[in-house]
Amino acid sequence: MADNLEGLKIPEHVAIIMDGNGRWAKKRLMPRNFGHKQGGKVVEQICRDAYDLGIKYLTVYAFSTENWSRPQSEVDTLMDLLREYMSTCMENSQKNNMRVRVIGDKSKLDEDLQQKIAALEEASKDYTGLNFQVALNYGGRDEIAVKKVAENYKNGEFTLDQLNPELFEEYLDTKGIPDPELVIRTSGEKRLSNFLLWQVAYSEFYYPEVLWPDFNKKELIKAIEQFNKRERRFGGV
Ligand code: FPP
Repeated sequence: MADNLEGLKIPEHVAIIMDGNGRWAKKRLMPRNFGHKQGGKVVEQICRDAYDLGIKYLTVYAFSTENWSRPQSEVDTLMDLLREYMSTCMENSQKNNMRVRVIGDKSKLDEDLQQKIAALEEASKDYTGLNFQVALNYGGRDEIAVKKVAENYKNGEFTLDQLNPELFEEYLDTKGIPDPELVIRTSGEKRLSNFLLWQVAYSEFYYPEVLWPDFNKKELIKAIEQFNKRERRFGGV
């Protein structure tokens, strides 16, 4: 059945905090990693659905700078899932016509994963379908840390008079990517957890109860419907 999107404004950029994998697995008396695996499958489907609905940019929070404190076996599973994802994506990149970028501090990832990411980013850079950003070892505060900006100022790249929010954005991982209009966090939790702190200044937030492994196209449409009910005034009246 065709999706009924008549009259709906489709947000250009949707960002998702994929929460609830652990609880989803627990409900099934399964280990947490089972939930992450299912969550990974949902990511692939949601990319197709998002593009299908006319979303141009999709960003997902896959691993935060704080997630290293999880048990080592969970960290390993998440990293393996990401490795697997990068490889599958590389194989399917032409068919998907999807540009993939990873935001976050990649330098702390294993060398082989860094290489897979670099290869996929390079191979997909001219694809014109969905722009898909994976936030990996990402933290908003880490991204905003002004060292890069200060270094460039010191090197004479710009004068203090030239430094404004637009110039500052050039130094973020999301350079060239529009700010998300809609942020979804699944599982009913209402927190930002260090995700895209700068970029969400004017975003709308939506917190469905559904756990990430159960998220699907129907839920995405519901989120877009909610987004359409909001009146965005950007500080005006
Ligand atoms: C939060 O659920 C989820 C994560 C920290 C990991 C998200 C990763 C994936 C969905 C899989 C890999 C991603 C890609 C792009 C292939 P939680 O573990 O905090 O759940 P809980 O709050 O119920 O414990």
